[in-house]
Amino acid sequence: MKLKFFLLFLCVSVGTAGAAWRDPVRAPHGMVASTDRIASQIGVEVMKRGGNAVDASVAVAFALAVTYPAAGNLGGGGFLLLRRHDGSTTAIDYRETAPAAATRDMFLLPNGDKIKGDGSSTIGYRAAGVPGTVAGMAFALKQYGSGKLSWSQLLEPARKLAAEGFVVTHRLEGMLQDNQSLLSPYADSRRIFLRDGKLYREGELLRQPDLAATLGRLQKKGPREFYEGETARLLADDMQRHGGLISRDDLRRYTPKEREPLRGSYRGFEIISMPPPSSGGAVLIEMLNILEGFDLKKLNPLSSDYYHLLIEAMRRAYADRAEYMGDTDFVRVPISGLIDKAYAERQRSSINLERASASSEISAGKPAGYEATQTTHFTVVDAQGNAVANTYTLNGWFGSGVVAKGTGFLLNNEMDDFTTKAGAPNLYGVVQSERNAVAPQKRPLSSMTPTFVLRQDGSLFFTVGSPGGTTITNTVLQVICNVIDHDMNLQQAIDAPHIHHQWLPDEVVYEPLGLSDDTRRALEARGHTFTTKPENMSDAQGIMIEEKTGVRLGASDARYDGAAVGY
Ligand code: DON
Repeated sequence: MKLKFFLLFLCVSVGTAGAAWRDPVRAPHGMVASTDRIASQIGVEVMKRGGNAVDASVAVAFALAVTYPAAGNLGGGGFLLLRRHDGSTTAIDYRETAPAAATRDMFLLPNGDKIKGDGSSTIGYRAAGVPGTVAGMAFALKQYGSGKLSWSQLLEPARKLAAEGFVVTHRLEGMLQDNQSLLSPYADSRRIFLRDGKLYREGELLRQPDLAATLGRLQKKGPREFYEGETARLLADDMQRHGGLISRDDLRRYTPKEREPLRGSYRGFEIISMPPPSSGGAVLIEMLNILEGFDLKKLNPLSSDYYHLLIEAMRRAYADRAEYMGDTDFVRVPISGLIDKAYAERQRSSINLERASASSEISAGKPAGYEATQTTHFTVVDAQGNAVANTYTLNGWFGSGVVAKGTGFLLNNEMDDFTTKAGAPNLYGVVQSERNAVAPQKRPLSSMTPTFVLRQDGSLFFTVGSPGGTTITNTVLQVICNVIDHDMNLQQAIDAPHIHHQWLPDEVVYEPLGLSDDTRRALEARGHTFTTKPENMSDAQGIMIEEKTGVRLGASDARYDGAAVGY
C-alpha cells in the first residue's frame, strides 16, 4: 500500500516531463527542498522515523556541512525561521558574531586602504566571525524538536557521510577547481579539499575523517563541545598561531538569539520574514509595499514595464538598507518605519513610470521613528504542518578558505558583511553605513531572507529562500510576485529569470539567458544601465501547500543540483 502511494506520487512528478515549465515535486506528508539530494533525502528519513520539521532541519544542516562544503557548514551561521502547525512563529538567529578583539578599522591599512588577501575581511583567519551553526541547531532542537530523535541520532547521517565519503558531483569538482587559490594556502584545507593538488574528479569519493571525528565528539559530548571542548581548543589554538582573533572566551560566550519575525502583507497575503541582523525581511516588505500600489497582474512577467517597476522598488529599498540597517542589538534601526505602508506610498510617489531614477539622486527615504530598542537555503514541511525555512552560510563560497588544524570544517568570512570601510563596496559590491561597523560581539548585517507567505485564512501558502548575497532579497521578492501576481506554480516562480538592482552600483544585474535584447533595449531607452557581467543569481528552495489537498509541493532551483524530496 505504502509503495503504491509512493509510485503514484513518483508518476505524477515525472509525468509532466516535456512541459515548458516543470511542476513541483508532490508528496502527501512531508517535503524537504535543499541544494543537495542526499541532504534532502536524509531530512525525509528523519520525518519518516517520526521526527518533525525541526528535527529534519538539524539533520539536513549537518548533512549539507558534509556534502556541500562551499556553504553548508559548522563554521558559519544563519537564520532559521519556524512556523509551527499551531500558527506560532519564531526566528532563530545563529548569525556569527565579531570576536571580542575585533575593532572598527581592523581591515584597514594605516593609510585607510582596505587590506587585501590574507588578513582581509574575506580571506584567512581574521575574516571569520564566531560560528553560530552548532549552537543554533542545538537551540532549535531543544526548544522545538519533537523529542523523538536525539541530537546524536540526527548528527549520525552526517558523521557517516563524512567518514565513509560521498560521490563528488560535477558541480563540486568545478567549485573546488575554481577555489584552489583560496583553499591552497591553508594546510588542512589543501589536504582535505584539494588532496594536496591531486584534485577530486566527478565520481570519486570525498572522505572527511577530521570532520567525522568532530561530529563524533559533538554526538558524544553534546553541542557545547564545539564551544568549550576539544573542538573549541583546536579552533582557538590555530587562530592564535595564525593571527586570528577568535578566542576560547569568544566561543564560550556565543549564544544564538530568538527573535520575533517581521510581518508584512502583500495583496492580502501575510509575509513573515527575517528581522535584523538580516536586512532581508525589512527590505523585502518595503519592496512589496511599494509594488502593491501597481497593478502588476496586467504586466507580462518578462516585460520591460514590469522590470522597470521592480528595479525602481529595489533601488529605493536598497538605498534604505545601505543607510539604516545594522545589528539592532547595537544600533537603532527604524524597522517599523521602513515596513510601513504609508512610507512605501511616499517612496512609490517618486517613481516615474517612463524614466529610470538615477541612484545618485535617490538617497535613503525618511521612515518614521526609531524603535525603542531593539548560503544555502533549505526548507522543510512535515506531516503536521510545521515549517522551517533555513538559510545559513560561510558567506563567500568556502568562506575564508581556512580549516583550523584538526577540525575538518571551513570557517566563514562573515566579517566582510560588516562595513569594513565606510563608503567602500564589500564582496557583493554593496555600500553600507556606520550602523554596520565592526564592534565586538556584534553581528554583521545580512541579506538572508527565509520567508513564509500565508493565505488570507492564515494557513501556510508557501516557504521560500535562497543564497546569493545581496541578490537574495530580490530573488525572494520575484518568487513572491511570480506566484501572487503572475499565477506561476512555485517551481516556475523559482526557475523564471531574475533581475537584481541594489541602488549602488547603479546597474541592473541580469541572468545570461534571462533577458531578451529587445527588453533590455527598452529598459535602456528609459535610462537603465546594465552590468557587463550577467550571472545566474539564485539557488532558491521552496515548498507550497496545495490548498484543496494539503499536498506538499516541493521546488528546487533549476539553476543547480538541488532536489525536493517528499514522502
Ligand atoms: O548574510 C549574507 O547576506 C551573506 N553572507 C550571504 C552570502 C551568500 O548568500 C553567498 N551565496 N552565494
